[in-house]
This record gives sequence, C-alpha cells and structure tokens, in this order.
Amino acid sequence: MSDVRISGYGDDLTINGVRIGDLGPAEHEAIELEKGGQNYAPLEDVVVSHVQDSSTLICRKPDPDGVRAYIEEELLDGLCCYSAVNQGQLNKTIVDAVIAHLQDEKIPTVPRSIRHKYMAAFLMAATAITKMDKVVPKVAGVEAPELMAKLSRRWGYRVKGIPANEAVIVVAAENFHGRSLFAVSASTDPAAKDDFGPFLAGIEVVPFNDADALEALFKEKGDKIASYIVEPIQGEAGVILPSSDYLPRVAELCKQYNVLFCVDEVQTGFARTGAPFAHMLYNVHPDLMACGKAAGGGIMPVSFVAGRRDVIDLLTPGSEGSTFGGFPLASVAAVFSIKAMVDDNLAENAKAMGDRLLAHFESIRSEFPDKIKAGRGAGLLTAFEMFDKPGLDGHKVSLKLLENGIYAKETHKTTVRLAPALTITAEGIDHIGESIRKVIRDL
Ligand SMILES: Cc1ncc(COP(=O)(O)O)c(C=O)c1O
Repeated sequence: MSDVRISGYGDDLTINGVRIGDLGPAEHEAIELEKGGQNYAPLEDVVVSHVQDSSTLICRKPDPDGVRAYIEEELLDGLCCYSAVNQGQLNKTIVDAVIAHLQDEKIPTVPRSIRHKYMAAFLMAATAITKMDKVVPKVAGVEAPELMAKLSRRWGYRVKGIPANEAVIVVAAENFHGRSLFAVSASTDPAAKDDFGPFLAGIEVVPFNDADALEALFKEKGDKIASYIVEPIQGEAGVILPSSDYLPRVAELCKQYNVLFCVDEVQTGFARTGAPFAHMLYNVHPDLMACGKAAGGGIMPVSFVAGRRDVIDLLTPGSEGSTFGGFPLASVAAVFSIKAMVDDNLAENAKAMGDRLLAHFESIRSEFPDKIKAGRGAGLLTAFEMFDKPGLDGHKVSLKLLENGIYAKETHKTTVRLAPALTITAEGIDHIGESIRKVIRDL
C-alpha cells in the first residue's frame, strides 16, 4: 500500500484526494509554504494555470466576491521566464518538433556513451548560429559558466603555463552566473553567499564597464589570470549596458595579456537583445560563450558552452559530462529553438519592439521626471528605474502591473525589468507601455 495516490490530469490531477483544479491562490501558497523550500518569493495572489498564446498567460486570482475558489484572468507575460521563452510560449515550431520526436521518432533518452543521430544536428546548428568552432551541451544555465570556469583553468595550466592550482578567473561586480558554488563564489551579492562558504579560491572581481580597472588587474596579476567571465549586458543586476567601447577594449586586453575572453549569454543570448547574441552588438568575438534559457525555447532545459576549438579540445573523456546534456530530446528542442529564432526573425523583431518599448519609457519619464530616473535596454531586454524615494517601490509596481494584466518583476528595489516574448506585436508593447504609465501616474 503506497502513501501516495495520483489520478487524473490537468485540473483533475488529484493527489491523495486533493484536486488541483479546486485550489485557490491562498491554498497553493499554503501548500508551497508547508511543503516547499522558500528560495523564491512568488508574486502574491496569482497562480498561472496555462498559456493562451505566445505572450498570454491565463492565471487564477482570488474571487473578489468570495464565491468561487478563484477567477481566471489574462496576463501578458512581460518576463518570459527570465528570457527562457524568447521564442514565445509554446512556440509551434519547437512544440511540433518535440511532439513528433516523442510520438514518431521515439528516441527520447540515451546516454552520451552511445551516439544518437540528433547530436550531429545539434552541433551543426549550434556552431552555425554561434559562429563558434565547437559546442559542449549541458542542461541548466548555471552549468555553462561553470564549465567555462573549468575550461579556463585547464587552459590556464596546460596552455598558458600558470603554475598548478594558482589560476585566477576574473569576474565583474554585480554579476549573475547562477547558483552553483562557482557562481556564488563569483557573486558580489551577500544574499547569494550568506553561510554558503567556504567559497572557491582564485576569483578576482573588477567593476563592470571599467576597462581601466581590468587593465590594472591584468598588469598586476596577468601571468596567473586564465579568463575574464562577463555578461555582455548585466541582466539580473538591472539590465546594465556597458559603454559601446567597453567590450572591444576587454577583447583587446584579453588578447594582449593572453587571457580567455568568456561571455555569459545565458540571459542575453538567442536574439533577446536584438542580435543573435549580445556580444555581436559590440562587434567582438569571445573565446568561450555560455548559453542557456532560450536555447531550449522554454520547452526543455538546454545549455551549452560554445567556443574555440583549441580550448574546447582540452576536454577529454571522463573529465566532464552530464547525463542529460545533449540527450536526443534536448538536441531536437535546441535545433528547433534555433530554427524558430531564425525563421521568425526574432532578432529583428526584438530590436523593433524594444525600440518601441524604450520610446514608451522615455515618454513616461518625461511625463513623470520626478518618479522615473531612466529607461534602458537592448532589444527586448529592458528595464526602467525609479528614483529611490518613499512610495517608489519596484515590488509595489510589479503588483500594480499585475492588476493591470502585465506580469513583470522588480530586479532591485527601484528597477523593474521587462523582457516579453520576442514574438510580441506592437499592440502588446503599447499595452505594456500604457499600463506602466497608468501605474506610475497612480504611485
Ligand atoms: C547570465 C546568467 N547566467 C547564468 C544563469 C543561471 O541560469 P539557470 O538559472 O538556468 O541555472 C542566469 C540566470 O538567470 C543568468 O542570467
């Protein structure tokens, strides 16, 4: 006799007599508080039920009349799972491919120790779109910068000649590379580190967008520095764009001091910023690049490191691996995520719609110059920042936007990030813009 009874599907899914479709937002919250780890603080009083179209979530909210368990409302997805769903929710190209793969092709899972026919397809598509020599598949986004760090160290010892165990990896302040021990060791956010030490040795931090500081560090410790790992645009830090000459100078300095130039494009990649990958906006070519999120189109977790042949060739059988990295289903999802990005001209649409959204931010800023400090972004990775004054609170704005049918989330106390699907229409952008204007007016 088992302790768990599971039946039904969708709203009829019933676990030990509790039918999911009967739960209101408060009950979902209570179960999550009681049975889940509290490593997130989801927006209050809203539960996503399903997706209506590429940009619209159907969500459940408390019934104001208190009669039903909940009411359902449309919500424009202004966040796209932190840029994991660039191709739009349930993108038909990707979904059709995944369903056909499962139903007709019937090869979801084999390990890397035996070849499968979709790996070649994945490698050809991923090297072509990234303009890199080689690719190594992984699963979660965080695994890609993690692998860049390992590759950097190995290259540092075997090629650059750094003495054993003395390699240094340089990172930028306010970075976000995920939650692994490398990522939190590299983090400058106390909340990400508190009581998770001891941290990895051999990490140095420089301010973002300060090439002089990087040069000074390279001058001082260049012999031991294996790589500089940097986000081309810092997403989690609040959509912080570097000055136009920063990445070209970084690339130049890395060349001069024989340091690998590694970009973390987990959030900025796959057309999000109006170019296939954000570093391309700055006409630089990194040695290694980490990708994730939209690499699987929001359908499958897919990540990878793409890079120079001689660096990736430092990996040997047994030195690295991942059970699900590049398994057949993920390979297919990745290939068709790339196809959707190319066929649907997502980079071009991101640029056009991003410019339109930035124009809204600018118009709102000029209407409320005492409230809005700045709007910024590249393509559809955008944010607006409020002044740090009483009443101007990012979380409050997120909740008010929710009331107006927009899902967005603050990144910092005063900054709200907007990163909708790259398939969004001009009407969708105008809806976001006018909703923000209304919320800011009422603050
Ligand atoms: C730049 C960057 N790197 C790495 C990650 C980690 O990705 P994941 O949460 O999928 O592990 C993120 C996630 O937001 C990110 O923005």
